[in-house]
Amino acid sequence: MDETDTSIDRIKRIVVQRLESLGRAGVTQLPRRAATAIEASSPQPKPTTAEPTRAVKQESTDDMKTGRSKDKATGLAVVQKEVAACTRCEELACSRTQTVFGVGDPKAKLCFFGEAPGADEDRLGEPFVGRAGKMLNDIIQKGMGLERSDVYILNVLKCRPPGNRNPSPEESANCREFFERQLEIINPKFICCLGTVAAQNLLETNIAVGKLRGKVHEYRGAKVVVTYHPSYLLRNPSAKKFTWDDIQLLLGEMGLPVPERTDR
Ligand code: URA
Repeated sequence: MDETDTSIDRIKRIVVQRLESLGRAGVTQLPRRAATAIEASSPQPKPTTAEPTRAVKQESTDDMKTGRSKDKATGLAVVQKEVAACTRCEELACSRTQTVFGVGDPKAKLCFFGEAPGADEDRLGEPFVGRAGKMLNDIIQKGMGLERSDVYILNVLKCRPPGNRNPSPEESANCREFFERQLEIINPKFICCLGTVAAQNLLETNIAVGKLRGKVHEYRGAKVVVTYHPSYLLRNPSAKKFTWDDIQLLLGEMGLPVPERTDR
């Protein structure tokens, strides 16, 4: 096989993966050509050949992008479709089963912000569904007295880094637009960063999580509390007491009572 064949095969594989991923995200039609970044941000968007869905038609894309949409779920669905079609990080786009956008209440006051999908999330298309997800559920339910459906959960990266390696700075930068737009639409009052990658990306700092935790930070009007990543807690159960302190700090800021705990 010569080099031309190899690159054609690669392109075919990327196109097939992309179409399958779009199909899973509910995309049934494609425009004849992709809108450019300039067109997408233009104040007077040009009509595209694709027929927008009924819900999307009700409000302009600009309104949904900036979070001014009355319908946050519709705004998120627009971003989700762009995420599903994203090929900014070639390695991730080629290796992912699907993108993992976010889950929960689009009107949530509290967002949990994680790092990147793992193998379970890549398979199921939902953040925090594996062992780390069970730990996060415990934090939400036992630690806060809330339900997973009361909050919104998202990650810095929307694709699984192969072998669960850390996201590269370039990958995080590529995905930044997406998590910023998610947070702009949801407009939470509180954000809980889970681990170093989430905290450092959201707060745009290199400070270690151990120094960031225990304080209230700010991101575009939202109060931000930093704690250890649930995977870290699985490996280091003795650090759970610090996360418990962080959750109490968060509950205090939210004006919520500390639930009775029977399992400590
Ligand atoms: N770890 C994360 O940071 N996010 C997930 O979705 C799962 C595990």
